[in-house]
Amino acid sequence: NANGAKAGKSRNIVEKMEESGKNCVIFYGSQTGTAEDYASRLAKEGKSRFGLETMVADLEEYDFENLDTFPSDKVAMFILATYGEGEPTDNAVDFYEFVTGEDAAFSESNDPALGNLNYVTFGLGNNTYEHYNSMVRNVDKAFTKFGAHRIGEAGEGDDGAGTMEEDFLAWKEPMWSALADKMGLQEREAVYEPVFGIVDRENLSVESPEVYLGEPNKMHLEGTAKGPFNAHNPYIAPIVESRELFSVKDRNCLHVDVDISGSKLSYQTGDHIAIWPTNAGDEVDRFLDILGLKEKRHNVISVKALEPTAKVPFPTPTTYDAIVRYHMEICAPVSRQFVSTLAAFAPNEEAKAEMVKLGSDKDYFHEKTIPHLFNIAGLLAKVSSGEKWTNIPFSAVIEGLNKLQPRYYSISSSSLVQPKKISITAVVENQMVPGREEPFRGVATNYLLALKQKQNGDPNPEAFGKTYELLGPRNKYDGIHVPVHVRHSNFKLPSDPSKPVIMIGPGTGVAPFRGFVQERAKQAQNGAPVGKTLLFFGCRKPEEDFMYENEWKEYKEALGDKFELVTAFSRQTSKKVYVQHRLQEYSKEVNELLSQKGFFYVCGDAANMAREVNAVLAKIIATERGVTEAKGEDIVKSMRSSNQYQEDVWS
Ligand code: FAD
Ligand code: 2AM
Repeated sequence: NANGAKAGKSRNIVEKMEESGKNCVIFYGSQTGTAEDYASRLAKEGKSRFGLETMVADLEEYDFENLDTFPSDKVAMFILATYGEGEPTDNAVDFYEFVTGEDAAFSESNDPALGNLNYVTFGLGNNTYEHYNSMVRNVDKAFTKFGAHRIGEAGEGDDGAGTMEEDFLAWKEPMWSALADKMGLQEREAVYEPVFGIVDRENLSVESPEVYLGEPNKMHLEGTAKGPFNAHNPYIAPIVESRELFSVKDRNCLHVDVDISGSKLSYQTGDHIAIWPTNAGDEVDRFLDILGLKEKRHNVISVKALEPTAKVPFPTPTTYDAIVRYHMEICAPVSRQFVSTLAAFAPNEEAKAEMVKLGSDKDYFHEKTIPHLFNIAGLLAKVSSGEKWTNIPFSAVIEGLNKLQPRYYSISSSSLVQPKKISITAVVENQMVPGREEPFRGVATNYLLALKQKQNGDPNPEAFGKTYELLGPRNKYDGIHVPVHVRHSNFKLPSDPSKPVIMIGPGTGVAPFRGFVQERAKQAQNGAPVGKTLLFFGCRKPEEDFMYENEWKEYKEALGDKFELVTAFSRQTSKKVYVQHRLQEYSKEVNELLSQKGFFYVCGDAANMAREVNAVLAKIIATERGVTEAKGEDIVKSMRSSNQYQEDVWS
């Protein structure tokens, strides 16, 4: 892997801590950056409040054979996200296998093997998924089995209930007390100490070739970008075509085709593509403005970690503008802990008092932020009535905000039909917010929309008041491009095309099923015996948001009666009709197809739809097979474990 392979870097955590004088390591298993952010926050807090010598560590950068030599006067924290169907995050796969696998071969044969290890755990999960927080639960179990000592509770945060941040904040206070007792730490008045130093590079101009203006790494800066393209190194892919599948008032849905033929990237039907977005110009302006950085935005700076184990999350030298535009999640929900940190830098006493209150009173914070969908700039401006926050050290900004994350999309094409062209089907996130003039806008989807407008020369390419630096000021590419990488997934058609498939995909949940049906149509054209291909699609009204309406007809021609599209229109009549209602009408056939070892797929909204579909299927099975509902649920469970029932869902 790209990170672990850095030349000369020790993969021995015990040695590393010894050398750098650390007594607390915080490992993270992170997919979208939240666990990594929590790890950094714990490192910072441990240091400032308790004088711990902390370091943050990416699980994939270390080996774990020698965890049994971890000194008993130190502590290891594990902040572990569970991903998808109870899987470890990409960077935690090896760690997880090592610790929970059959043969964790620790280097010393102490008995118990981990009798010296003091550890702390917090898990990030989503209770709408079957294997809620299984990563942290299983690691905790394995550590206990090996005789390690947990300090404090094994914390669990729930993204499904939307309480992740609050779960984290509530867990960490008792954990700190327990840790302070165990290690004999004295709590002290926390003073802000920057993790990063900002160095003005007056000798460099923004045109200098060594200055990063959004390029993600050195190869990209030098114009020699090459593979492997992955989560550390995106491919700048040309967009072949971009169009709207429908556009009604305040709602846009995009179909985007990107060309990967210039890379060695490949994909399989059902995989995901990651889009690396750029923040919208007006949001960048707003952010720099409230921090009083607008005049300095193009000054060249280097950012240096002030301690050896901290990592600067973007390449430098660079500019304030480039950092904010390409590397920081400036539009995301605000963290209450960050608000507490910023109180000390308020421009006046009134603003400070408000920040302290917001930071310490959970209910007040939620009441003041959530209904407005504030991002950090919006909240600061509101609190200070527009007065600028010029005292905030830029290091605090880098520490307090997440790294801008790629967004994932279920690939909506078949790799059999178009191996070098990936299709994306994305609905643009725009929400009207009471009391706000402009709608809230999602980062990646509005970026894709802007790319589409630019490419098609739409009459008003800067519509919605947006200005994007589409690939940065140095954009050296002909035509419109987007940075991407591919992530493989287990959401797959049966290898035998004659097996029946039942697919449930309302809204953009239909994305991977366009790929599935495209693939089966091609297989049929190639003379393969293709089984029943039953798709349940739901949208509001046929004339409004019926995605790919004409394409389904083409597939029908290729597949004949093997393909059936069942629609659920939720706003056509006074009665809501959802995919699960239509599924119920097909009880007999659905049960029949499942008995023939047909596969069942669900894609789209994790919060409600996927659960309700699961429940309806259990009922169908119970009724059709004459068993109890509990038994029906068990059958669905075992279908899930044998991959006969597969989900590709998001919230
Ligand atoms: P973001 O800016 O990330 O905002 C997303 C949401 O976060 C907002 O709607 C809001 O609810 C919340 N939010 C953000 N900022 C704030 C704030 N300041 N205050 C309060 N709330 C806030 N989407 C598709 O359209 N098609 C697909 O095929 C698809 N496949 C996916 C597959 C997987 C495996 C996953 C994980 C997700 C998939 N998604 C898909 C969702 C997609 O990844 C994005 O989450 C989605 O497009 C929104 O991205 P965005 O950057 O536009 O919005
Ligand atoms: P609605 O917005 O009219 O409620 C795609 O978003 C389609 O999914 C829409 O028709 C939407 O209907 C529908 N939908 C909303 N909630 C759902 C749920 N819980 N189960 C199934 N479909 C749902």
